[in-house]
Amino acid sequence: MNAPVPAVRVAPRPFLKWAGGKQALALRLVAGFPPVGARYFEPFLGGGSVLLALAPARAVVADRNDWLIDAWEQIRDDPDAVLAELLPLPNTREDFLRLRGLDPRAESPARRAALFVYLNKTAFRGLFRVNRAGHFNTPWGAYARRYADPDNLRALSAALRGVRFRRGDFELGLAGITADDFAYLDPPYWPQGGYADFARYTREPFRAEDHERLAACVRRLDAAGVRFALTNSDTAAVRALYRGFRLTRLASRREINLTASRRGIQELLIRNY
Ligand SMILES: C[S@@+](CC[C@H](N)C(=O)[O-])C[C@H]1O[C@@H](n2cnc3c(N)ncnc32)[C@H](O)[C@@H]1O
Repeated sequence: MNAPVPAVRVAPRPFLKWAGGKQALALRLVAGFPPVGARYFEPFLGGGSVLLALAPARAVVADRNDWLIDAWEQIRDDPDAVLAELLPLPNTREDFLRLRGLDPRAESPARRAALFVYLNKTAFRGLFRVNRAGHFNTPWGAYARRYADPDNLRALSAALRGVRFRRGDFELGLAGITADDFAYLDPPYWPQGGYADFARYTREPFRAEDHERLAACVRRLDAAGVRFALTNSDTAAVRALYRGFRLTRLASRREINLTASRRGIQELLIRNY
């Protein structure tokens, strides 16, 4: 008799195209993490490529973009309801403008999540841009691509069972962390060269004072014995903010893929272990 064929575990991939996404670096970053301990904290979740590469048993993750966190939570709780809303959405310019104009807060949780994924996949470069009133206003991208892979969304749902989501600022995202936990922090980067608009993911940009508040916050983590890793652009300002920690230059995807003249961003890994 033949042995039963083991079920193939589909390793889930990120479901979003997110500016500043760490997909190209995720495996290298995770390989350098210490054992996570009790819980993994990631207060700037975005597209979550590092969370998915690490696949911790217990995690507390957060982002200030509420709509993004709503989408993650819905995919964890009911991926089929999200797929049922998402897959029929038509990708024409007219439909995009109509769907972009809806108020996501007035929609059901599954439809709100579907709209978030749809706009991410059909808007120009997947950029999340909102005006002062909070309305999504990125133009149409004219891409012919699938919005979602049903098997991947279901695998994501299973992988997220031990993940708790929080909405809000990183200080709230880190609340309750102890020396038994580990944190990875990937804030909007300190602007470098022409990449300044990486600082926009929510209504409010991440300003110099937010970077200072973050540096003060990780110094408190360090004093409390919490191990952390943080990525940011390799700039004099960032090096000054994190003086005294272990600073390592990372080769970015841009550096690997693009011609020398376009190698824009240099990334810095900051650690206390
Ligand atoms: C560089 S991205 C993270 C990318 C992520 N590592 C990935 O692989 O997709 C930074 C994230 O921080 C979020 N953010 C901006 N300001 C924040 C704040 N004050 N507190 C928490 N999250 C914030 C943005 O919404 C964005 O998703």
